[in-house]
Amino acid sequence: MKIALGADHAGFSLKEILAETLRQQGYGVEDKGTYGRDSCDYTDYASAVAEAVASGEVERGVLVCGTGIGMSIAANRVPGVRAALVQSEYQARKCREHNDSNILVLGARVTTTEMAELYLSLWLTTPFAEGRHRVRIEKLDKRKS
Ligand code: RB5
Repeated sequence: MKIALGADHAGFSLKEILAETLRQQGYGVEDKGTYGRDSCDYTDYASAVAEAVASGEVERGVLVCGTGIGMSIAANRVPGVRAALVQSEYQARKCREHNDSNILVLGARVTTTEMAELYLSLWLTTPFAEGRHRVRIEKLDKRKS
């Protein structure tokens, strides 16, 4: 599976750690930046990852900023993206089972590295439950954004 990663300056360190974890686990990693700690705009990296997911260049995306909120808002502007800000194990599972989340969003200033690794692992291994949840996400794609 190919996964695009993106972060702003606040999420840079956690993004580097998660990218290494994914590489070690055999995932293909497309690092869309940022590539350093200089202040930058989360919107640019959210767009790069969201567009890579929406176009099919990659199957999934992971975005990290300080709170996770800016990345969530920006990524969900792109049609076809279902970006989920995860702050609990329950949300990590349910955003896959119920929402078929294709982008995981993490807040580096509100989530420890250990919990971020756990959320990522749950998010990658939990399948979409289909059924009534498929009907609901199809309605998302029918509405005008
Ligand atoms: C950067 O200071 C911070 O605003 C950003 O990482 C993010 O939390 C925005 O939503």
